[in-house]
Amino acid sequence: MTTTDERTYWIRTFGCQMNEHDSERLAGLLEVQGYRKVDSPDDASVAVFNTCAIRENADNRLYGNLGRMKSVKEARPEMKIVVGGCLAEKDRDVIVRKAPWVDVVLGTRNIEALPGLLRKAEESGIPVVEFSETLNVFPSALPARRDKSFHAWVAIQYGCNNACTFCIVPSVRGVEASRRLGDVLGEVKQLCSTGVSEVTLLGQNVNSYGRDIYRTPKFADLLLALDGIEGLERVRYTSPHPKDFREPVARAMAESSVVCEHLHLPVQSGSSRLLKRMKRSYTREKYLEKLHMARELVDGLAVTTDIIVGFPGETEQDFEATMSLVEQARFDAAYTFKYSARPGTEAAEMDGQVAPEVVSRRFERLAALQQQISLELNEQMVDSTVQVMVEGPSKKNPDKVTGRTRTNKLVHFAAAAGQGELLEVKITGAAPSHLEGCLVG
Ligand code: SAH
Ligand code: SF4
Ligand code: F3S
Repeated sequence: MTTTDERTYWIRTFGCQMNEHDSERLAGLLEVQGYRKVDSPDDASVAVFNTCAIRENADNRLYGNLGRMKSVKEARPEMKIVVGGCLAEKDRDVIVRKAPWVDVVLGTRNIEALPGLLRKAEESGIPVVEFSETLNVFPSALPARRDKSFHAWVAIQYGCNNACTFCIVPSVRGVEASRRLGDVLGEVKQLCSTGVSEVTLLGQNVNSYGRDIYRTPKFADLLLALDGIEGLERVRYTSPHPKDFREPVARAMAESSVVCEHLHLPVQSGSSRLLKRMKRSYTREKYLEKLHMARELVDGLAVTTDIIVGFPGETEQDFEATMSLVEQARFDAAYTFKYSARPGTEAAEMDGQVAPEVVSRRFERLAALQQQISLELNEQMVDSTVQVMVEGPSKKNPDKVTGRTRTNKLVHFAAAAGQGELLEVKITGAAPSHLEGCLVG
């Protein structure tokens, strides 16, 4: 407790947008209980770490942070430390063994249990560790405390039924479970009635949305059904899996006035041989075909991707195939990752783990190539006028604001404008990861 006896909380979120979404619910649950948000764990009666397990450095960061919390807990033994999220699932009992000062460990499928688990820990005085193998409540249905007033994450699907050999997500997030179409639409309508104008639909494999409850994917129907909701300006989604990305979804993107012209289509590698080892279920050619189809159908489409460098067995030739795919595909941006072996995944047991110095060299080459392409594509936008949604003051220059184009590019420009405002901006300058602009009119 703080000196005033006021109940306060602090949350640190690692990982992807799904975790940000879940953190907003954890915060919402605490606020309903009367907790107020603070900016430092030192002032918090409850400190929450919502963790990620996707790569090894995510693990290291959590244990480093928990190490630092030890003295905070010693100084204020009545405060509670909570660890949730994907690493909590992966490390279950290890966490309280490595950091016995942790009070509550909860999984990704029982976040609604947080208030009850805090009470349990308070009463028992010993760490409480609780997980659920099934999703009982869609976290989206829980109260949320959102960071941005104009934007909301909307989970449409939990878990993942794929078996990419490098990936830990299926084992920490469970099997695919879709939310009913009516529930998703209901949530979006409700959000828009309270001032939200942009939503990002979330799932690990959004293209298969609905298959588990309707027998057939309903993602394209969902996109079309969102068009026309009062107050809704922009719809984004992530991630589609290339194997399930088909024409109906691209057509729905083109037809809908709210779905943004941005596709994040993770390729992982440009080598069909490696894609097979990754169990991605598509080849280089198939991927490029789908990319071509999407660009043909959706005018002005920006495309981003994820790429893993140094997957087990990656030869120079495989890596050159990734380089040539990047040259051919001309992505607007790529999130590049060094392969990280995750315990329990198939790839962690594979022969041919690539030496770290080789991985680093390839990683640098790939990043440099992509930077060059991103810059060239951004430079082509100079002198054009685009619609930008303001996100807030620019972090680098307080005299400017930062916003996003429909194609998800960041633009810095001078304006007296608040979050969520839509403005016409003329692009005046370009860098690999952002644009500069000036207000029109
Ligand atoms: N469901 C999404 C990906 C979610 S994970 C999809 O299939 O598209 C986000 C990204 O992390 C992946 O696209 C991949 O590029 C990267 N990633 C996942 N596991 C990894 C690992 N073991 N090492 C390095 N990067 C990894
Ligand atoms: Fe992981 Fe593959 Fe599922 Fe994406 S589709 S979450 S990479 S297993
Ligand atoms: Fe996301 Fe990390 Fe979990 S990327 S799904 S928070 S392992």
